[in-house]
Amino acid sequence: MEAKKAAAELAIDAIQDGMIVGLGTGSTAYWAIQGIGARVQNGLRIQAVATSVVSENLAKELGIPLIPFADISEIDVTIDGADEVDQAWHLIKGGGGALLREKIVAYSSKKLIIVVDESKIVQRLGAFPLPVEVVKFGYELTVNKLRALGCEPKVRVSEGNPYVTDNGNYIVDCHFKSISNPAELHQAINGIPGVVENGLFIGMASQVIVGYKNGSVVRPA
Ligand code: 5RP
Repeated sequence: MEAKKAAAELAIDAIQDGMIVGLGTGSTAYWAIQGIGARVQNGLRIQAVATSVVSENLAKELGIPLIPFADISEIDVTIDGADEVDQAWHLIKGGGGALLREKIVAYSSKKLIIVVDESKIVQRLGAFPLPVEVVKFGYELTVNKLRALGCEPKVRVSEGNPYVTDNGNYIVDCHFKSISNPAELHQAINGIPGVVENGLFIGMASQVIVGYKNGSVVRPA
């Protein structure tokens, strides 16, 4: 927890008065939202968009003003976590099931700051199963097409039922073990009808902040 908190706390230094801020999802983004909430209570004037219902509710509890997407064209900075970060800062995200909203927000963000603990840094992506959001209709066929790309796909389950995202879709966790060409795989997965989006974030991170168990934080260049 300390490592995630330390990374998140450094990230929020990037937030300034007047900014539109993207709020990520997950246990590391949680600390960033807490920190932003504290700064708002001390007078910081920002408006935010959230990447999940959970983060939206947390923002409301903390008094962080939310702005409708209809009223913005860009987000100044988004702070979000990740499940894996490789040496080129390509990411696997979606462990918390919010990958679609996270990618929509990240894509319109001038700056995407990724906050992680040291366990998320990898040489090669793929040990963490890649989350893929799929529509419910015909999902069994979509799962077969994902398997044909070389993974062991597992429909995510929550309390005995398929897990349903904030968007009403399923998540298929794809066990690739090792992903040699993330950009190519990203294209191949999103080319399958029934796939809404996958958790590979290619070249989207502007900065990665890594927290360590001893509380130190590193911003690899
Ligand atoms: C949610 C995500 C999270 O950012 C990712 O799962 C990391 O979570 P945590 O900070 O709890 O380890 O992508 O969909």
